[in-house]
Amino acid sequence: MKKEVFGVCKDGRTASLYTITGRTGMTAKVTDFGAAIVSLFVPDKNGVMTDVVLGYDTLAEYEANPPYIGAAIGRCGNRIAGGTFMLDGVLYKLDLNDGRNHLHGGYQGFDKRLWNAVQTSPDSLTLTLFSEDGDQGYPGNLVACVTYAVTDDNALAIRYRGMSDKKTIFNMTNHSYFNLAGQNSDSILDHELYINADRMATVDEYVSATGEMIDVTGTPFDFRKPKKIGADIGADNDQIRYVGGFDHHYDLKDNGAVAAMAYCAESGIGMAVTTDCDGVQFYSGNFLPDGLPIKGGRKVKKRMAFCLETQFAPDAVHWPQFKSPVIEAGECAESETRYTFTVGEPWEK
Ligand code: GLA
Repeated sequence: MKKEVFGVCKDGRTASLYTITGRTGMTAKVTDFGAAIVSLFVPDKNGVMTDVVLGYDTLAEYEANPPYIGAAIGRCGNRIAGGTFMLDGVLYKLDLNDGRNHLHGGYQGFDKRLWNAVQTSPDSLTLTLFSEDGDQGYPGNLVACVTYAVTDDNALAIRYRGMSDKKTIFNMTNHSYFNLAGQNSDSILDHELYINADRMATVDEYVSATGEMIDVTGTPFDFRKPKKIGADIGADNDQIRYVGGFDHHYDLKDNGAVAAMAYCAESGIGMAVTTDCDGVQFYSGNFLPDGLPIKGGRKVKKRMAFCLETQFAPDAVHWPQFKSPVIEAGECAESETRYTFTVGEPWEK
């Protein structure tokens, strides 16, 4: 574990950059600003350590970070339509930071905060954040906690915990953008993807959830057999059109089993995502702003990386048919997601 100064925040506080390395050499660099994953090095087919996530070189870029690159997302990942919700007869109003929706916790969500980092072991880091009652409009004083650990089987394990003194919403995720070809690649359309889901949640033209789940059979959204991300991304389909590609929540079949897997033939790097969450958002980076400077003097390109954000169903607070992201006062909410890296295809042939 190494700790370096990353930069000085606009408010004068100092942000750090932590390096955690597992016994196999897999390495994650994490900043306490936004509890963001800055780099993630895993071996490719030639044994070369390859950085498979997008990131920035400077703290100032994390303070802006319009696409939420690498950051911890909270209190509530994804969109809340209209930015309001009711709990026990009280109406709560949140920021409308995405058109008519509240997105990813608001303007000053968990991605825009300096977390408190504590080294938990040589290969793990725990970050905590105190989010006061009324923060971004959410009720309850809440303590959020994220642990990143690099494991012996080349996984990045992320554990989320949250507890509040009032009934509130807790639905954290991580917004890493993966490109398994490494830092010189501009596209993920040749990556193959598998998603262990029969159903996905549809959205309307404002990208608000409709409350419906559709069967993926016969649609561009069927990834139950590995398929190139680019294969159907341009399909003539309203759901594709509304978000400019893939940006949908998949309802996972077996909790705790593999949620999704991806593979890049060029590097030979595979990735398997396991989670105890009910669903995962597959986002093909359609809104990545072309030209935004990123690590190593490079520039962002639309669809140069993809996200697999484990989460509750979108806008679940408004739809009783979806599992509720609401936690009771004093309840400790916990969930875990692992991104495990392989050399070779992550699925059986
Ligand atoms: C999420 C959403 C996308 C987009 C990105 C941030 O993944 O699903 O629609 O808003 O965050 O750019």
